[in-house]
Amino acid sequence: MRALILFTAVSLGLVTNVAAQEQQYDQPYRPQIHFSPQKNWTNDPNGLVYFDGEYHVFFQYNPFGDQWGHMSWGHAVSRDLLHWQELPVAIPEENGVMIFTGSIVIDHENASRLCRPKKECMVAIYTGHSQNPQLQNQNLAYSLDRGRTWVKYRNNPVLDLHLSDFRDPSVSWDEKAHRWVMAVSLPKEHTVRFYASSNLKDWKQLSDFGPAGDTAGDWECPDLLRIPAVNKTGSIWALKVGLNPGAPQGGSGEQYFLGDFDGTTFKLSEEPGAQGWTNYGKDDYCAISFNNLPREQQPILLGWMSNWQYAAKLPTSPWRGQMSLPRKLAYVRDKAGMALTQEPIVAGLRGPRVALPLAGTNPKSALKHDGLVPPYELDLDFESSTEDVFGVRLHSDEQHYTEIGFDRSKQQFYIDRTRAGATISTDFASKTTAHTVPSRRYNVRIIVDRSSVETYAQDGTIAMTDLIFPANGKNRVEIFPPSQDSVKVTGQMWQLKSIWASGAGSNAADAHVDSVRRKKAADK
Ligand code: FRU
Repeated sequence: MRALILFTAVSLGLVTNVAAQEQQYDQPYRPQIHFSPQKNWTNDPNGLVYFDGEYHVFFQYNPFGDQWGHMSWGHAVSRDLLHWQELPVAIPEENGVMIFTGSIVIDHENASRLCRPKKECMVAIYTGHSQNPQLQNQNLAYSLDRGRTWVKYRNNPVLDLHLSDFRDPSVSWDEKAHRWVMAVSLPKEHTVRFYASSNLKDWKQLSDFGPAGDTAGDWECPDLLRIPAVNKTGSIWALKVGLNPGAPQGGSGEQYFLGDFDGTTFKLSEEPGAQGWTNYGKDDYCAISFNNLPREQQPILLGWMSNWQYAAKLPTSPWRGQMSLPRKLAYVRDKAGMALTQEPIVAGLRGPRVALPLAGTNPKSALKHDGLVPPYELDLDFESSTEDVFGVRLHSDEQHYTEIGFDRSKQQFYIDRTRAGATISTDFASKTTAHTVPSRRYNVRIIVDRSSVETYAQDGTIAMTDLIFPANGKNRVEIFPPSQDSVKVTGQMWQLKSIWASGAGSNAADAHVDSVRRKKAADK
């Protein structure tokens, strides 16, 4: 009997725990398939790294409130890049030095001498930011327990130009030269500076890239990465850099350059398409790639889904800010030139697939579907010989909808959120556009969460992400124009499973984190 009471108490406790956790992620607009901290402010992702079976997302975080300030590194882990478990603050602000954006590498050979003898460990390289006068320099912290606790290096900073603006180091391993390479921004000079080091402590300047492309605002959050061709024949180098303010979409945006990095210098390719925007929407900023991925995995990029124009005004509580989905990167080279391609990692959350056109509907009209509840995914392929403008509207009621479409006469893909719902500032009511290429397909993958639409058009060569704050939580999905014959749509859709629901995924993530803790305790 006692055993039974104990058992019931324990299982009730568990049930309440799970329910409590779910409630924490069930407020209006709370992302269901994107990581957001349980409470408080976040901006850029930091230190993305895969290590020992876990993906880590660190993030710019204010532990004390839902506005920017006291910048520290928050921390979450996942085993599948989808289900996240938030852990305590990893690297806190201290002695007036805030912990700005940076990256994490795995020091496999203890070259830094910060790990235990003959052991590998995690080393973070971040910008220390102090005020009055403003000073930014590069610093190290290390963790000997798989990112759970961090120690700041006692001889910080390791790279100091005594500048007020010098930030966001992105460090990756150069296999050929057998050393680390840092890409770091001189924001006001619109320059990415490259450094190299064999021990993470001593850095040698290599070269500068920029000014180039768009220089209307500060350059921030650079990332240098090698990306494979879509058809796996060869690879190319990409340099991505944030621009704020003054991006063409308004506020913060990110451009990419494709070219070659010879271990010292980045050289922009002269082929058409070598310059583009990592995202053509308003809400994807400071995306960086994961370090230390298994060799067979493609580079994966993840960004902050917001924009400095209105990030402080988002109508969410008790948190403010969320991350994008992770996206696999590749590049294509076709008749129109080169382009970066992005493919969201989301398939693990799909429920049953519904093929389009829906059974019983006119195959040419294809879709008018009621009662979809975010999160869900649409994968649509349009064909039309008569219409110039076509696409899909996500209605929450008659007056409120987000329009996602192609305008062939203007050669544009667009998201129009001006009628989507809450308009939180004048900068927010926007129609974002991207140039389309007539010889590429008119297809789009659309991922809808409670407060965002992420779209990947023309086979992923156009990524466009926009936040939305709809009038209610339901969607009627409607193809337009409504004429039965003018637009043919084929494709599929899926209801997506919330990452916070007590499904197998989140339990699996919890169980995994628990096992990590047990292992850590056993190691002591
Ligand atoms: C970009 C940024 C970075 C900086 C961080 C501070 O969003 O301004 O340049 O490191 O945010 O939170």
